[in-house]
Amino acid sequence: MIIKRAEIPGDKSISHRALILGAIAEGDTRIKNFSNSGDCRSTFNVLKELGVNVAEKAPSELVVRGVGLRGFKKPGKDLYAGNSGTTMRLMSGALAGQAFDSVVTGDASLSKRPMKRVLIPLREMNAEIEGVEDNYPPLRIRGSKLHSIDYDSPVASAQVKSCLMLAGLYAEGETTVTEPVKSRDHTERMMKYMGAEIKEEGLKVTVNGGSKLQGREIEVPGDISSAAYFIVAALLKGGETEIECVGVNNTRTGIINVLKKMGGKIEFKNPRSISNEPVADIHVEKGQLRGIEIIGEDIPGMIDEIPVIAVAATQAEGKTVISGARELRVKETDRIKAICSELAKMGAKIQEKEDGMIIEGPTPLKPVEVNSYGDHRMAMALSIACLVSESGTDKIINKECCEISFPGFFNVFSRFKSNEVEA
Ligand code: S3P
Repeated sequence: MIIKRAEIPGDKSISHRALILGAIAEGDTRIKNFSNSGDCRSTFNVLKELGVNVAEKAPSELVVRGVGLRGFKKPGKDLYAGNSGTTMRLMSGALAGQAFDSVVTGDASLSKRPMKRVLIPLREMNAEIEGVEDNYPPLRIRGSKLHSIDYDSPVASAQVKSCLMLAGLYAEGETTVTEPVKSRDHTERMMKYMGAEIKEEGLKVTVNGGSKLQGREIEVPGDISSAAYFIVAALLKGGETEIECVGVNNTRTGIINVLKKMGGKIEFKNPRSISNEPVADIHVEKGQLRGIEIIGEDIPGMIDEIPVIAVAATQAEGKTVISGARELRVKETDRIKAICSELAKMGAKIQEKEDGMIIEGPTPLKPVEVNSYGDHRMAMALSIACLVSESGTDKIINKECCEISFPGFFNVFSRFKSNEVEA
């Protein structure tokens, strides 16, 4: 089966960045294959509130009229980031350097996510920013004149790095961020693509304050984090499957490396580059997987894919051990706890560890009711577990939340099931 380009949404991370960088650029940025996900809509709405004109030309095509680095208007109300950590963390970097005050709020899940990781370095840059209990949203930002910093981030987080790179555009001098392990580098690539001066050296990235961005056409690759569900489905249950035009940036392909190590037959066809991001068509064949060990330094490259990797591991021969994944506890839900409890309900041999999990396979999965806990990645990973257990996705409580990153997921899933799954 071929999963067409239009069936997998545009990359969510790249779509957020295209909107934000387009907004603070000079001139127009036309974004093609934009992700119409709930999260990217949050960024879209926040920018509109800041006076940015974004015209919708077609269902996945937008034109952002850049207002330049200092062109945002003071918002008339609080800025609502919905469920989106990327919106809140990246925008707080851009807002810290403005000449006005703002407040960024979120939904119940986002209101429980840690923001201290951006408050600390932003304050080092002279930002005035406060959160509830000095950690949680809403964030109250008083626009101020920023200083550049050289920051050693304790977490490998592209949201933290990108927040500081954005703030760095408003600071005098060079702002450098060093990470413990490299996280996704879409901000670096897009800033360069739009003409900013960015230096990269190993785990260090440096932005020059005042660097101007030039609006450009940006074509967004398919989201590998969304394709991941169909890659695992094809390995476990499918015939040959090809997914067209997926982003294969090596800061995101951790899931491919792991599934290949597990024995999965996956090939990149027709590799090419669009808007400074590598893409390929991903070809997958069904086959038996075997358990492996996944360690801390592997995690940033597959941070959002651990729930679906856990589903794959329930069907692999032997033991899969995932360690160094503590960050999963502060995502949209505690994903370590959630995936362990729900797969255990289905009969998987899975043991929760403080920083990961241990899974013994292969085990048949039972068609019982499971809960997504309102987390999109849980809903989609559990859909693949339901496919293995031969139960319907009506067994997943609150499955509609997959719209946060993958609108139309269940349509593609139904087509996959009717085409590919052997009776
Ligand atoms: C994202 C970075 C990751 C990821 C999230 C999107 C981004 O978060 O989990 O879904 O677009 O920068 P962290 O940077 O906090 O790990």
